[in-house]
Amino acid sequence: MDMFVVRGGKPLKGRVRVSGSKNAALPIMAASLMADGPVTLHDVPDLVDVRTLSQLLGTLGVISERQADNALRLEVIDDSPVVADYELVRRMRASICVLGPLLARRGRATVSLPGGCNIGDRPIDLHLKGLKALGADIRIERGYVIATAKKLRGARVFLGGSFGSTVTGTCNVMAAAALADGVTTIESAACEPEVADYGDLLNAMGAKIEGLGTPFLRIEGVESLAGAEHHVIPDRIEAATLLIAGAITHGEVSVENVRTDHLSAVLDKLNDVGVRIGIAEDPGGSDRSTLHVLPSEKLTPTECSALPYPGLPTDVQAQFMALLSRADGISVVTDKVFPDRFMHVAELVRLGASIHREGQSAIISGTEKLHGACVMACDLRASAALVLAAMAADGESVIRRIYHLDRGYEQLEHRLNSLGADIRRVNDCAENVPASLRLTQPVENASSLDSPFHAEGAVKLEDGRQIRVDSAESLAPLQSPADAKVKQGPAS
Ligand code: UD1
Repeated sequence: MDMFVVRGGKPLKGRVRVSGSKNAALPIMAASLMADGPVTLHDVPDLVDVRTLSQLLGTLGVISERQADNALRLEVIDDSPVVADYELVRRMRASICVLGPLLARRGRATVSLPGGCNIGDRPIDLHLKGLKALGADIRIERGYVIATAKKLRGARVFLGGSFGSTVTGTCNVMAAAALADGVTTIESAACEPEVADYGDLLNAMGAKIEGLGTPFLRIEGVESLAGAEHHVIPDRIEAATLLIAGAITHGEVSVENVRTDHLSAVLDKLNDVGVRIGIAEDPGGSDRSTLHVLPSEKLTPTECSALPYPGLPTDVQAQFMALLSRADGISVVTDKVFPDRFMHVAELVRLGASIHREGQSAIISGTEKLHGACVMACDLRASAALVLAAMAADGESVIRRIYHLDRGYEQLEHRLNSLGADIRRVNDCAENVPASLRLTQPVENASSLDSPFHAEGAVKLEDGRQIRVDSAESLAPLQSPADAKVKQGPAS
């Protein structure tokens, strides 16, 4: 397993390009299950999640081939498989996006329930409600959703839930409606740009969908869908992360390939916080811009809530919290989409942030200095927040479990390093923990190895023997005293 060693305190400077959107690419890839010809997608980031979905689609009869310039070609060569196995689905929740396309095109789908994750329970009741409304017969057996439908029929579907609409649920219902008999209307559809991008692909395949980007969708079912070519939208969450990277390090960063119309809430909030951003639209009538983050004197505290689009995305809540931990005063961050998405709070606190949680909010007392520490990533966006905070901290930090980060950011450390960051990807082992983060304790204070930390130097055991701990394992808790790498020292 890898970890990052980050040496903080370096203002970022330079240009960086935003990749294609992960959250748009994943459901779009799944939609290839419905196409009667090859689907070629441009700007698909090379990420672990994309590879996992390619693998799952492979088990469902779709071959995927990487082409130059981050293009991905997908083609159905066998339309008989209908089972999405738990072993693959559990690795990535977005696998649920195969449900609607399989049901619509093959009349049957057996898809493992994805289960919860670190950011919340993540039910799929709204997906199932929508598909049932279109006439699917659905039952849950042994952890699998088993959906069948001889022919789906257009219907009126309301997709609002207690926490707003559902992004992947809207995609699933839209897919099923695209091949249903008659007209479907979806009310309280998710308005996220990724959902609109999904609809754009379906329309390029021959679907008839109106109202994309609004909560009211009208879908006229068609007989079949053809292959198509499509450019995935830029990743608005990655763009926000890179902008915050510039701001939190007091750097000067130009972020290219940004759809500013997808980032209004983020830009508005960064403006509130005092981050200065210049916008240069790309020439030639392009819908892309380059955003220039300029060094800010000081960051102003604020109150913000993560909400469904066009509100501030829950996927940048953690990164904002990292930024606000450096603001000059008290901020409040609330998450109304995933009210339990606060596991990063404890890790940011290890980096010197002053944050405490109150229900679905976190209260952040800004501090001038963060300091290096060993921290553990708990989910994809939390990992990004830890990288941001570590880059802003004095000294060195270790970030463990960065496999979360690799799921959703393409070569993030290389791109940040090209801006002047100092991030090393190393094997997660004691020897790679910087000396500055290793705990030492004097012999007189050490009585046993029950301490949650390995100690470097001499340690006195309870039986009176004194031993020397060769390599400090930093903050990793000991499994048992026998796990310590020790050698007998001179008898006391
Ligand atoms: C997608 C994104 C994820 C983002 C989230 C919210 C992808 C691949 N993932 O996830 O990065 O954080 O949108 O913007 O696009 N809910 C229900 N019932 C359901 C479905 C959802 O109650 O059937 C709730 C969820 O628990 C959550 C809220 O609705 O509180 C939004 O979830 P949803 O939009 O479905 O998230 P995902 O599509 O899974």
